[in-house]
Amino acid sequence: MTDHHHESTTDAELLSRPLRLPCGVVLKNRIAKSAMSDSLGDGRGNPTSEQLRLYERWASGGLALSIIGETQPTPGFPEKPGNLVLGPSSDLEMFRALANRAARDGAQLWLQLGNAGALSHLPISAPEGPSALDLEGLRCAEMSLERVQELPAEFARAAALAQSLGFGGVQLHAAHGFLLSQFLSPLFNHRRDQYGGGIEARCRIVAEVAAAVRSAVGPAYPVGLKINSSDQLEGGLTEAESLAALRVLDRASLDLVDISGGTYFPGAKSASDSAGGGPYFADFAARARESTSTPLTVTGGVKTRAQAAEILRQGQADMVGLARSLILEPDLPSKWLGEAGGDPVFPRFQAPPVGGVTAWYTMRLTAIAEDRDAGFSLELEEAIRRYDARDEERAAVWREAFPIREGAMPS
Ligand SMILES: Cc1cc2nc3c(=O)[nH]c(=O)nc-3n(C[C@H](O)[C@H](O)[C@H](O)COP(=O)(O)O)c2cc1C
Repeated sequence: MTDHHHESTTDAELLSRPLRLPCGVVLKNRIAKSAMSDSLGDGRGNPTSEQLRLYERWASGGLALSIIGETQPTPGFPEKPGNLVLGPSSDLEMFRALANRAARDGAQLWLQLGNAGALSHLPISAPEGPSALDLEGLRCAEMSLERVQELPAEFARAAALAQSLGFGGVQLHAAHGFLLSQFLSPLFNHRRDQYGGGIEARCRIVAEVAAAVRSAVGPAYPVGLKINSSDQLEGGLTEAESLAALRVLDRASLDLVDISGGTYFPGAKSASDSAGGGPYFADFAARARESTSTPLTVTGGVKTRAQAAEILRQGQADMVGLARSLILEPDLPSKWLGEAGGDPVFPRFQAPPVGGVTAWYTMRLTAIAEDRDAGFSLELEEAIRRYDARDEERAAVWREAFPIREGAMPS
């Protein structure tokens, strides 16, 4: 799996190699678009024509794998009102059309299945996490044992539906402080039952979800997982614990583990708001090799082809995940796979507010979805304003489609 013996291989050649996953599916090269919440759902959890166009454009840009962020198996715990919800009452024709349009040029489209848990978007949910929390900016109720034990079936049902609609695979979201990541993290998880305690116990629900999903989709369908190398926060999931979780999950017949890091918790910084030099988690990925035999993607801070190729050359990971680079340049993979190359120019923001950078990138991907990216020149402040205004509009639509359960709010 490692590429130690290819010092003389060019960057383009390394990135162009196909990757065979344990389930037998072959990805055509080593470039993945990491999961991004695109906020383009219609507010009722269904895809829009803009979204179809966005994933078609990414597929035409040459990547092997594209992952849609934060698709909810149920409507109760969304991260944003633009999330997709995949269940029996979804607009299945629109989902099928999305799977179809995005499979252009042999690209794969996977759905990232997630539940925001304690971080569910307040205007449209009554947040529930592993444990009750009452902090400034983070308030949630504790999930009952019964609710926790419903999760595997919920994820499994959405995965089976994704498979039947023609999506190439699914990724379980256990990173960045959303529900499965909350279970892994001592910041969120203070449970005293079998789902809390040491890292093996905190990892139990993740393993149970993975097992249920695998048994629902069968052995030949790609199932991935995104996980934190650490929460990057005092008192959060540590690197040693993340390695222990990977050892447990090595028995879960996963096809691809995407290594990320950072958590949304009061006072924390997120991976997508990070401005520093990357790649952020490649050294951790190299160490993770000893804890897992599952193929790895590493995502975070990859800004040049040389960085991407070096990860493969050193055998730190099998695949490179890109998020912001592919919003700046949806055709970047074609460049990197060709001889000439060429790296994206990242914008610099002076002291952006928390979440501001993500808002700017989301408005830029909206422009790609609407074929308006050529002249895109939104200032940060204006991007944040439009992003918030759109979320507010969609939240109203969401509340009508999915009323919040009375009495579910933490008091
Ligand atoms: C607009 C935006 C939305 C994102 N949404 C998600 C998401 O839904 N799920 C996820 O796992 N990561 C999400 N991320 C994080 C990225 O997948 C990635 O881990 C992070 O941006 C670091 O990679 P980069 O340096 O290539 O941007 C998002 C990032 C951005 C910029």
